[in-house]
Amino acid sequence: MSAPKKLFIKTYGCQMNVYDSERMAEALGGKGYVETKAAEDADMILLNTCHIREKAAEKIYSELGRMKKLKKGNPDLKIGVTGCVAQAEGEEIMRRQPIVDLVVGPQSYHRLPEMETKVQAGEKALDTDFPEEDKFEKLKGRPKAKRGPSAFLTVQEGCDKFCAFCVVPYTRGAEVSRPADRILTEARELVERGVREITLLGQNVNAYHGASANGDLTLAQLIWELDKVDGLERIRFTTSHPNDMMDDLIEAHGTCDKLMPYLHLPVQSGSDKILKRMNRSHTAESYLRLVERIRAARPDILLSGDFIVGFPEETEADFQATLDLVEEVKYGTAYSFKYSTRPGTPAAERPLVDEDVASERLQRLQALLTRQQREVQESMVGREVGVLLEKPGRLPGQMVGKSDYLHSVHVGDCDKEVGDMVRVHIVASSTNSLAGELIR
Ligand code: 5AD
Ligand code: SF4
Repeated sequence: MSAPKKLFIKTYGCQMNVYDSERMAEALGGKGYVETKAAEDADMILLNTCHIREKAAEKIYSELGRMKKLKKGNPDLKIGVTGCVAQAEGEEIMRRQPIVDLVVGPQSYHRLPEMETKVQAGEKALDTDFPEEDKFEKLKGRPKAKRGPSAFLTVQEGCDKFCAFCVVPYTRGAEVSRPADRILTEARELVERGVREITLLGQNVNAYHGASANGDLTLAQLIWELDKVDGLERIRFTTSHPNDMMDDLIEAHGTCDKLMPYLHLPVQSGSDKILKRMNRSHTAESYLRLVERIRAARPDILLSGDFIVGFPEETEADFQATLDLVEEVKYGTAYSFKYSTRPGTPAAERPLVDEDVASERLQRLQALLTRQQREVQESMVGREVGVLLEKPGRLPGQMVGKSDYLHSVHVGDCDKEVGDMVRVHIVASSTNSLAGELIR
């Protein structure tokens, strides 16, 4: 038997890409590939890319530049670009970088095995269609091998919101929800393989409305179905749009024990003028009232957000409104970015804020968010939390896991196993993690 071919996948961007990379590796596993962690050893390299900001997209071209050497050393090496840069730039990638053999957009991954055959025959392969069929269904046949306790599961893709700055509606297409029974089957299979926590993924996950035998299910109804899966201990979901935060989902945060007290709820800006120009169709006030309702259902929920500073025509007063909103919400964690012009989006037509001004605002916002994050983390000290153990720690007898609130927790003197759910008394907080003792 010939030695298995080696596949190296480098994943950029969001968790949906992480999930897609896993599914692509599994699909190519069916064609005899095994994954390697070293690009130098690979027979095939896939860069699973992100197009959300200019820097992310440019990184791909510098990475491809570096890979020229590898291809010179191994002319049989096949190089592919997948993900949102593939979708947005298509053939242009092969023009700019002739070492690329394969370009496939996120909606066509199920065609990867046949594309692999084509590139092995020395041809180039390109597919950036938005086909009708469900790619995850076509990619099925997930292996039965054991895996880590925490998994992503994509339930919804695409976005119909068209925020004025964002490429996602163009790269990932219109909102599509996967049917509920397929998600439930996949979840049960993951649990059989050792998974205890599932994070449901979607660009607009709370707009989920997947078909089921009893009509369409909302995200909350899907969560209640997952709640019945024995052996599944935790459910999370991301990313949510404020306008799709329905009553049943808010209520589930108060009543579903498996649904974790953590919510990523991007607001982007605290200025109504900017929100309007961003086409967000919510105001700062409506977001704050929503946060109030969520906290009424689940007072200890940890909130996370996304922010863009330096959006076209953002004034100091607009930025101050963002700081005010952050002060009011008190985020446990957050992601903040300088506005990046994306060709083809409506905001790309608007006058830019001076780069230095935007950088300075980003620093101020990040200082505030970091302070809040530290305070929220420190408030965990003295509390008892659930922790899902994910791996051994560096110290003897130590295990590392994630708390209900998604903090990393180091548990000392821990005789439990990876995949166990334990109760932990938090005793200390450091920069990026908590330390705790097992409650026996
Ligand atoms: N510039 C900067 N940040 C952006 N995001 C999306 N598009 C852009 C852009 N053009 C941010 C938003 C979004 C997160 C995933 O990335 O905050 O919520
Ligand atoms: Fe992009 Fe807005 Fe859709 Fe999020 S909701 S993916 S920011 S268009």
